[in-house]
Amino acid sequence: MPASGCFAIEYAEALDLNNLGALVIKSVSPKCRAGNPTPRVAETYSGMLNSIGIPSKGLAYYRESVLPAYTRYDTPVVVSISADTVDEFADAVAEMSLPEVAVIEANISCPNLEADGMAFAMTPETTYKVVGAIRRRTSHPFWAKLTPNASHIAAVAKAAEEAGADALVMGNTVLGMSIDVRTRKPKLGNVMGGLSGPAIKPIALRMVHQCYRSVRIPIIGCGGISSAEDAVEFMLAGASAVQVGTASFIDPGAMQKIIDGLESLCQEIGVENIRELIGQVKLD
Ligand code: DHB
Repeated sequence: MPASGCFAIEYAEALDLNNLGALVIKSVSPKCRAGNPTPRVAETYSGMLNSIGIPSKGLAYYRESVLPAYTRYDTPVVVSISADTVDEFADAVAEMSLPEVAVIEANISCPNLEADGMAFAMTPETTYKVVGAIRRRTSHPFWAKLTPNASHIAAVAKAAEEAGADALVMGNTVLGMSIDVRTRKPKLGNVMGGLSGPAIKPIALRMVHQCYRSVRIPIIGCGGISSAEDAVEFMLAGASAVQVGTASFIDPGAMQKIIDGLESLCQEIGVENIRELIGQVKLD
């Protein structure tokens, strides 16, 4: 499935959306937001930095003018929600728990909203609080999107599970920065932003594995996945599914290529059912 923020309905021109596991939409916030100062994207040789800042026209606009374009397909729709406070999160999730929405992904890990990239998912305590508040307000399946910018990810994952998340997405972007040496200015208008792409893959993979050891709920791997081999690596580390983000900016057909590649790679490595891979990294 696509990673939130890296996918829009225009991808229907590059691939058959009915082949995807889910359609994950860019995060929406209940507060109307213009987004962060430009430039909002910067390329580095190791990956992409972004500081979009979740531009939003609010939940009513989203429900009436964004969501219907996605719910026309047979593929389950995942609505990603971002918010500034625990109460705002819980209210927004309750409001978006609509019959046509299959899953709510709570983006409790966007690095671009608070100073120094602070986010709920950076500590077990704030994770527990926000995930618990959301759980009390929805009976929809609900995933908590965690962040690599957390020093004790196993404890954060456990807190999300104990507070009632149905699954974890591990994870979001790594907080980074880039400077133009001639102008001496940061390349992003917001100074810092989230690093994505192949550079962060080993970090995300390690954290998926730590989450897998810590919880019993499913984990969705995300971070630099751009080939079928990457996807299998994440599944061996403990992921039950994967999301693809930056790779789709480079090649809009990347997700389809990964799906096709999984078929032949599984054949090559003697795997009949892809579920056999989950958590099966050999550690001895
Ligand atoms: C935004 C950036 C992210 O890296 C993310 O995970 C979610 C949102 C943003 O700035 O809009």
